[in-house]
Amino acid sequence: MIYQATAENITRAADYLRRGELVAFPTETVYGLGADARNDQAVAKIFEVKNRPTINPLIVHVDAFEKVGEYADLSSDVLRARLQKLATFWPGPLSVVLPRRSIVSSLACAGLDSVAIRIPDHPVALALLQECGFGVAAPSANRSTYVSPTSAAHVEEGLGQRIAMILDGGPCRVGVESTIVSLVSEHPELLRPGGVPLESLESVLPDIVVKPHHTPSAEQQPLSPGLLREHYAPQTPIALRGACGLDNPQMRVGLIAFSEDALHQDAFPYDTRSVLSESGDLTEIAAKLFAAIREQDKLGLDLIVVDSCPQIGLGRAIMDRLLRATAKFQN
Ligand code: TXA
Ligand code: MG
Repeated sequence: MIYQATAENITRAADYLRRGELVAFPTETVYGLGADARNDQAVAKIFEVKNRPTINPLIVHVDAFEKVGEYADLSSDVLRARLQKLATFWPGPLSVVLPRRSIVSSLACAGLDSVAIRIPDHPVALALLQECGFGVAAPSANRSTYVSPTSAAHVEEGLGQRIAMILDGGPCRVGVESTIVSLVSEHPELLRPGGVPLESLESVLPDIVVKPHHTPSAEQQPLSPGLLREHYAPQTPIALRGACGLDNPQMRVGLIAFSEDALHQDAFPYDTRSVLSESGDLTEIAAKLFAAIREQDKLGLDLIVVDSCPQIGLGRAIMDRLLRATAKFQN
């Protein structure tokens, strides 16, 4: 059930988490499905409810930098220096992979010896984390492989019956998931583009390397399984504009355009049209993209066609998600 994020309901949510139950809560990126990060049984419920493969580790959320060291081993000087630089983006849409401490549920880390940690920039998330006092493991609050939720209603649609409480903090401001940077390799590595653009990371960590998409084999444990190509896809087939011929006018097609100009770029008789930003602003496009995909996915269309943008700034995260969602229509 959906509850307004009042002080009283935040206290209730913290109680649920303390008792090992799951709570969905808003962050600036997407809604998360939280459990006490120290409690294996609570964390196991996340995997069950989401139908998430247990090889895919979760992000641990904390409310303050001082708490990072409770969950991660910061004894290395090099690592601490790099983390200090990245911490300028906290609270914010950045998760950092660090050596794990044993207090973290090993299930949350999928058995890896590292843990991803993030301080989210959302008043409700921060109030909840502060009230709990412990780290909260939280993946996006959607069924595994579906589009991430950017509103409480999205969470209810996918998981409503299966979780104790959904805290409603309104629509998410950023709209794409956090950027993931690993500090457990020789050089800092970008594992997933997200709300903090690569260009901003490069300004504090010039030696950061971009991890290419990889398709892990069965034997090989994936470093960041979110990097699998087919992920985040709606049920309706979805293709980038131009990647799929629209020669049959009988087809019921929806268009997700990035700007007013793009709306009128071709003459196909689309069944429905969504425009994400009047001027093509990447921040607005990111904030509205997942909601638009979900809305069109409910219409029983034969195909959803979506615009693309240059992979610069937030455009890198937007195109990363779209390239995965549309993978079936690529070579
Ligand atoms: O914005 C976000 O990051 C949202 C909000 C709720 O914080 N969370 C989110 O979680 O997107 P999820 O579970 O959907 O994606 C977490 C990603 C996965 O791709 C996972 O593989 C990666 O983080 N990850 C977690 N721990 C890791 C680790 N120790 N090493 C490498 N990748 C890790
Ligand atoms: Mg997810």
